[in-house]
Amino acid sequence: MRPRIKLASDCLPDGRPIELFEHDGHHEIRCGGLSLMGSRMRHSEEELARLACQGLRSGARVLIGGLGLGFTLRATLDLLPPDGTAIQVELMAAVVEWNRGPLGHHADHPLDDLRTELVLADVTKAVRRYEDDLDAILLDVDNGPNPLVAEENAWLYKPVGLQRMRRALRPGGCLAIWSSEEVPSFPARLRKEGFCDVEAHRVTARPNGKGPRHAVFLGRRP
Ligand SMILES: C[S@@+](CC[C@H](N)C(=O)[O-])C[C@H]1O[C@@H](n2cnc3c(N)ncnc32)[C@H](O)[C@@H]1O
Repeated sequence: MRPRIKLASDCLPDGRPIELFEHDGHHEIRCGGLSLMGSRMRHSEEELARLACQGLRSGARVLIGGLGLGFTLRATLDLLPPDGTAIQVELMAAVVEWNRGPLGHHADHPLDDLRTELVLADVTKAVRRYEDDLDAILLDVDNGPNPLVAEENAWLYKPVGLQRMRRALRPGGCLAIWSSEEVPSFPARLRKEGFCDVEAHRVTARPNGKGPRHAVFLGRRP
């Protein structure tokens, strides 16, 4: 069996390590010893975009929180009109650098697409720049409504964060949130914060319905 090789590492703002590993042609980003994202399973990250980005209008603007290996960004670009914009927000410069290097081929180099606007920032701050603007917000920055990677990410799933994201959307715009697990109380929280057409989807990590089960929550700004 081939050994796992550490290709690079950096530190999160709170000092914990974020590391890039390669094994048998696959890559994995690990954070504080936990797997953040790998190239072996990508289906649920792609489903996040497919569920939220059907029928986008000409000139649509979609904000994606969390680059990882770029699978959600690639799936968004595949559904985005030629004059649309995918605003990819990523916290870690190292993750961007790795996507411009050894990770780029996994999602067919989505950062090179002219419709991609890269914003190196914390999405909890970046999303406050938008008002009545975005056609969709796709969030995959952490574990979901029970965050593990950064405590600050919890803001996104609290009433104050959900209300702020609702205001950033255009009327009819869609908020889509990836979650590692089902959170039965979360759809009610979305409704309470003013979202309509709320749905909770079960998604699998592999396209054949196998692998770990995750969830995608959807809600629209009325
Ligand atoms: C699970 S990965 C995303 C996987 C991605 N959907 C894909 O298709 O590969 C989470 C990403 O979110 C980033 N991240 C974590 N917290 C963030 C924040 N507050 N703002 C922006 N990016 C963040 C991490 O650095 C990591 O790149």
